[in-house]
Amino acid sequence: MKALEGVKILDFTHVQSGPTCTQLLAWFGADVIKVERPGVGDATRKQLVDIPGADSLYFTMLNHNKRSIELNSKNATGKEILTRLIETCDVMVENFAPGALDRMGFSWERIQEINPRMILASVKGFGPGNYENCKVYENVAQCAGGAASTTGFRDGPPLVTGAQIGDSGTGLHLALGIVTALFHREKSGKGQKVLAAMQDGVLNLCRVKLRDQQRLEHGPLTEYSQYGEGIPFDDATPRAGNDSGGGQPGRILKCKGWETDPNAYTYFITQAAVWERICDVIGEPEWKTREGYATPPERLDKLNEIFERIEQWTMTKTKYEVMDICNPLDIPVGPILSTKELIEDEGLRKTGTIVDVDHPTRGRYTSVGCPIKLSDSPVEVMRSPLLGEHTLEILKDVLGYDGTAIEKIVESGAVGAASK
Ligand SMILES: CC(C)(COP(=O)(O)OP(=O)(O)OC[C@H]1O[C@@H](n2cnc3c(N)ncnc32)[C@H](O)[C@@H]1OP(=O)(O)O)[C@@H](O)C(=O)NCCC(=O)NCCS
Repeated sequence: MKALEGVKILDFTHVQSGPTCTQLLAWFGADVIKVERPGVGDATRKQLVDIPGADSLYFTMLNHNKRSIELNSKNATGKEILTRLIETCDVMVENFAPGALDRMGFSWERIQEINPRMILASVKGFGPGNYENCKVYENVAQCAGGAASTTGFRDGPPLVTGAQIGDSGTGLHLALGIVTALFHREKSGKGQKVLAAMQDGVLNLCRVKLRDQQRLEHGPLTEYSQYGEGIPFDDATPRAGNDSGGGQPGRILKCKGWETDPNAYTYFITQAAVWERICDVIGEPEWKTREGYATPPERLDKLNEIFERIEQWTMTKTKYEVMDICNPLDIPVGPILSTKELIEDEGLRKTGTIVDVDHPTRGRYTSVGCPIKLSDSPVEVMRSPLLGEHTLEILKDVLGYDGTAIEKIVESGAVGAASK
């Protein structure tokens, strides 16, 4: 049995943050009913199109295992159908711009009147306060949540990261909020509102940078390269390049082939527990006992010299050879893997983290499967729905409308053609 079997989700999400949340819930077995504007649908269906006429990868990779109903929630009949869906479902998830749900006539108060057990889960850019009415996209959240100011090199501009911590990261936070509210409802019998603000989600992921902000009051951040370089610290956590964010110094180092391959690099951590093995591997056995090198605090002002020496060694090996030599010695290293290497990785395919999916209009494509594995709730990744593919099915099977009622609904323009 799937973990969330029997849970019905009214999925009013679009773009990335909300859809990543409801996709996870669908993978865990919830029945996710995606509500989309007739004839238009989620804007991402038509964004970054690679195959003309087919739903984009942007959409298909974020909306697996869902059903799609076309529904105009501003049309009178559409509002009636939406009301029936709210009566029937357990959770409503939305990431509209602030106030959009109220403008549709579905305030939290109205939703509670319709179904007091309903959980209303929202992604917004900011929590209550000065910015609560702002529209927000991924990179705005990365900038407002502390990620950009702490990413990049000290002498360069702030940087955004490729990992979608603002959108997908907030979707993950929201999913946890939803299952927690469902668990609470088991005892209380009541629904509640769940809010995941993108700024808050990013800040949560930048927790260690706020740790460093407070450490600054007590002295320099000795594990940052800038300390060894004698550069004074300012009053905010600086950008730390590729320095490790934890207590064990680390860097990205060149490997064999770096001159032509932009990803011929490895991450290398000089974990204190294996320092002696590192010294042997790189051919500096005397560093094991030499004054200034033997203990972690002594090494902090020499990290540039130490990593340059380690890099002389890593540059003689491929990133995979570095892994093969260091792993048996328990030296923590990691190759910089390109998206091409990841998509071709046999191990990730075996675990279902990378999957191939068939799609009626775009053919076979590769996607990232469910990254969370439950031993008794296996995930089968199913293709995303076509726009309105399940409109009739949902009207009949979920809401119980019959032939003439459905004809009237279609005539009203509330659901598009509903012929699929
Ligand atoms: C992402 C975002 C910036 C997109 O903004 P947008 O394209 O203008 O989309 P909106 O959410 O404002 O919705 C547009 C309109 O479509 C309407 N709409 C959406 N679905 C509809 C439906 N099925 N039927 C009728 N109208 C619908 C909304 O009610 C809204 O109308 P309104 O402006 O009259 O209130 C915005 O939704 C947002 O800030 N969301 C919260 C943060 C977030 O999740 N950001 C990350 C996205 S990955």
